[in-house]
Amino acid sequence: MKGNKHPYVILSAAMTIDGKIASKIGDPDISDEEDWKAVHKLRTEVDAIMVGIGTILKDNPKLHIKYFDHSGYYRIVLDSTLSIPINSNVIKYKPEIYPTIICITENGSMEKIKDFELKNIKIIKSGKGSRVDVVKLMPILYQNGIKKILLEGGGNLNWSFIKDNLVDEIRLTIAPWIVGGVDAISLVEGEGFSKMIESPRFILSDVDHRNNYVILKYIRRK
Ligand SMILES: NC(=O)c1ccc[n+]([C@@H]2O[C@H](COP(=O)([O-])OP(=O)(O)OC[C@H]3O[C@@H](n4cnc5c(N)ncnc54)[C@H](OP(=O)(O)O)[C@@H]3O)[C@@H](O)[C@H]2O)c1
Repeated sequence: MKGNKHPYVILSAAMTIDGKIASKIGDPDISDEEDWKAVHKLRTEVDAIMVGIGTILKDNPKLHIKYFDHSGYYRIVLDSTLSIPINSNVIKYKPEIYPTIICITENGSMEKIKDFELKNIKIIKSGKGSRVDVVKLMPILYQNGIKKILLEGGGNLNWSFIKDNLVDEIRLTIAPWIVGGVDAISLVEGEGFSKMIESPRFILSDVDHRNNYVILKYIRRK
């Protein structure tokens, strides 16, 4: 459960009717122009955008703002072993506006860390397990001035946040098609809960639609 000193977390995603956030070969092209504008607007309201290394390796996003003037925010990548290519867009694209923080485990190699620190990338260590400990990470980010996070996936990182009930709000865009595929990434991957009763509950706070897309907003039930 969340305490007071955690950032507010908004999970944001575009998915197909069947809950896929990319196709089986990783085609991520779900949003239309209007949806991208809405996502970029949401980005103007947060202190940081967070993604998993899977999303960086598959899409190489810039995680910037195209449609609005804005003074910037942090880009946060969860990358347990610091495997991110040093020429990724989140490293090289406009670091003066969107500084990047990479979160790794305690086991990260000092040599690799130095290479990234030389590029002014902040490295935060959280947890001794095989993956970054998101529960421990939240208060650390809060202490670093990050009070609101836009969690932009992918499915495996979303699961870690859902599992530990760290998601305060969900913004979902549902595209009007079905892509199928057992290998296509779903909104939430991971092990999953055994019983419905174990899962965090949300209250539907807004419903909208345009161009056959449905836009949903949920708030976590206290
Ligand atoms: N439609 C949308 O809105 C949307 C948004 C974002 C992404 N996507 C799609 O999602 C796909 C990527 O999703 P993905 O599930 O493969 O990757 P992901 O969730 O972006 O990243 C998962 C990776 O993050 C690292 N990680 C570090 N700590 C973690 C933790 N505590 N919990 C979970 N992961 C942690 C792990 O790699 P290490 O063990 O190596 O650290 C893990 O394999 C792409 O195809 C992308 O296009 C779609």
